Amino acid sequence: MPPHAELTGSPAPSDTDTETGATAASRGLSEADLADVERDAVERVGSAQSLDELEEAERDAVGRRSRFSACYQQLGKLDPSDRKQAGQRLHEIRKRIEEAAAARRATLSAAARAERLAADRLDLTEVLPAPLAGHIHLVTQVREELEDVFVGMGYEIAEGGEVETDWYNFQALNIPVDHPARSSVDTFFVDAGEPETILLRTHTSPVQIHLLERGQLPIYAVVPGRVYRRDTPDATHLPVFHQIEGLVVDHGVSFADLAGTIDTFVHAIFGANVRTRLRPAYFPFTEPSAEFEISCTICDGVGCRTCSGTGWIELGGCGMVNPAVFEATGVDAEEWTGFAFGFGIDRLAIMRHGIADLRSFIENDVRFLQQF
Ligand code: DAH
Repeated sequence: MPPHAELTGSPAPSDTDTETGATAASRGLSEADLADVERDAVERVGSAQSLDELEEAERDAVGRRSRFSACYQQLGKLDPSDRKQAGQRLHEIRKRIEEAAAARRATLSAAARAERLAADRLDLTEVLPAPLAGHIHLVTQVREELEDVFVGMGYEIAEGGEVETDWYNFQALNIPVDHPARSSVDTFFVDAGEPETILLRTHTSPVQIHLLERGQLPIYAVVPGRVYRRDTPDATHLPVFHQIEGLVVDHGVSFADLAGTIDTFVHAIFGANVRTRLRPAYFPFTEPSAEFEISCTICDGVGCRTCSGTGWIELGGCGMVNPAVFEATGVDAEEWTGFAFGFGIDRLAIMRHGIADLRSFIENDVRFLQQF
């Protein structure tokens, strides 16, 4: 029989006060009182609102000046036979209080921790403006447009290296040793190999040689790319600029095909109202050669400052592939004929958009670049 039941009024071996349910031995320590002490303490501990309050409640419940301690002190006055049971009962009460306190402590600690975490939480939800999206540089846009136009005419897009040998950049293109384009004033030489044999290409024409050497005929190709010349930057010159080269080699290609091709791409890029014309010129790698011009986009051919009053603007060079070039690359000039052309992409872009100074392209001023 548990001591508890005995103390709460079940028949006990000693004299029993049935009214109160307390044994005679525990008269000074009635079960009603003990139950009250227990209920009180458990309640007090269980309702603490903070860890500090809980500590205080525990002190009040089982500390030296608590009712529980007072009961304990009475143990000594009890009959030895009752003392054991009362002692066990008090021990049990202490255990219940401690359990209640532990449970409350767990709850309060968890709440305190949650509160701390909530206060420490880093807000990562800040809304920032979308990053500015860039766009393709005007020169690249024009290059891609040109590629599209020529792809539409059945051409392939070819590429070549920016570092070339003297052979590809000059010799194979029938540019003799004493030609002004070969003087070191115009050319950047690379410090490698024999002096002045390796260089940064001064035009895209060397890719004609690579295409011809490949030996796959016919050829319908355009080659856009960067070229280098030792020029001081000014409104119309940059030491690094872009060209696009065209090469067609087939059976029975004529000068009329060349003229028609130029007309077609000029209309595609500048619009149907712009006119083209060819004027005799000299290039070592074409024969006959011509410069091709377009009617001035500023004055529409009337004559203005941009076109120096002529009504025409020169875009590039062209001509029929010189048999000497075929010979240098092992292509049979009796069987094949071809035409070639080349012009500056940057130059074409400033004409089309009325840009005053080529240097704007490389100054990285967003206010300029954003306009295109
Ligand atoms: N390569 C020449 C230059 O840079 C341009 C040129 C002229 C290219 C005539 C050609 C051509 O293909 O036939 O000035």
